[in-house]
Amino acid sequence: MTPAESAVYAARRDAFMATIGASGVAIVRSLPERLRNGDAYHAFRQHSDVFYLTGFVEPETTLVLRPGAEKERVVMFVRPRDPEREIWDGRRAGVEGAVARYGADVAYPSSELATRLSDLLANHAELHYSLGVDEDLDKLVGRTLVRLRMMEKRGKRPPRTIVDLQVTLHEQRLFKGPEELATMRQAAAITSDAHIAAMKRGRPGTTEQEVAAVIEYTFKSKGGNAPGYESIVGAGANATILHYVENTARIADGDLVLVDAGSEFGHYTADITRTWPANGTFSPPQRAIYEKVLAIQKSAIDLAKPGATITEIHDHCVRELTRAMIDLGLLAGTVDERVADGAYKKFYMHLTSHWLGLDVHDVGAYLQEGGTARPLAPGMVITIEPGLYIAADAPDVPEEYRGIGVRIEDDVAITATGNEVLTAACPKEIAELEALCRS
Ligand code: GLY
Ligand code: MN
Ligand code: MN
Repeated sequence: MTPAESAVYAARRDAFMATIGASGVAIVRSLPERLRNGDAYHAFRQHSDVFYLTGFVEPETTLVLRPGAEKERVVMFVRPRDPEREIWDGRRAGVEGAVARYGADVAYPSSELATRLSDLLANHAELHYSLGVDEDLDKLVGRTLVRLRMMEKRGKRPPRTIVDLQVTLHEQRLFKGPEELATMRQAAAITSDAHIAAMKRGRPGTTEQEVAAVIEYTFKSKGGNAPGYESIVGAGANATILHYVENTARIADGDLVLVDAGSEFGHYTADITRTWPANGTFSPPQRAIYEKVLAIQKSAIDLAKPGATITEIHDHCVRELTRAMIDLGLLAGTVDERVADGAYKKFYMHLTSHWLGLDVHDVGAYLQEGGTARPLAPGMVITIEPGLYIAADAPDVPEEYRGIGVRIEDDVAITATGNEVLTAACPKEIAELEALCRS
């Protein structure tokens, strides 16, 4: 880690500690490594809260922040150096590295968390912690509170309040700093390149799996870490299954291919969807649907600016997509009627936007006090991803539209004056897509 990077993590910890105040204490921890099958593990990826505050990427890491403490304000529990284990599992920074390179005031072996936690929590009024995410840690926190209750008469008072990290740390993570936006631009650029590579490769006769492989090969060869979520490659009617990740079918002549894939870079993920004709030409029904979704997606991006809300953007997409459904003969009646009775949900069943950052569905409250949608503000990053999905067996719809699924998704950073489309380099115009699919 360079001194400039260390300074960024230190500034994030300082900002967070200023928010929770001298009476607060916070715990964040890596999620446990998970078995995949037999004795093979899923690839480990650091918990975003731990990464955001430390840049530390090893498993079994716990960070305890105690802004009001005289010493041991930044405490890390990490895997200790172990030459034997490091031969098998890879290098470790150890407790020495956590202090020397990752900004800990003090570091202990992970195995000492259970015995040290009560002293670290004692006499702090508020515990900032995400209950319900890690069952083992919930139990340890619970046991620690019980222990402290028994010790109160000896001067060790347990926290009185547990504050969800959504209120503090996740609010901070919602607003991306310049260095985060720069990283997200890189993730977006790598992901755009991967979508372009997929468009060039995804001819009739290739498999969805091959397209997914081209995408993930491009991510890694351009410096991305890995997909930020399971890549979705759906050809033909598979495009109408929202979280289709089987990716095993062969692409047929005449299929549209929907690809929803995003690379992580520096732990931040992009989230792009493009839909294109494998044989290089949109059929008239495919074109009719695509043109409408594209126009709506562009008009939704124009709405994304400070003061607007993602509810307004979604409501706009719902109305315009419903109008499109009526125009196409998928629904009858008026826009008002079909929005009111929710009939549009047969063909547009998901929301239009989510926060984006270290997590694909990033943290941050969607509602403000009172339960109304919060206004967008500079530094927030959202997706805008309207779509239309007509199942292969949808009843009462024109035959020509059955089995067509289209989604177009871009990543949009809110700026002081409007927005920056981080994924603008990824083609979405019909002529561009057809040219790439013919190349
Ligand atoms: N790829 C997940 C999403 O678009 O929300
Ligand atoms: Mn998305
Ligand atoms: Mn997506």
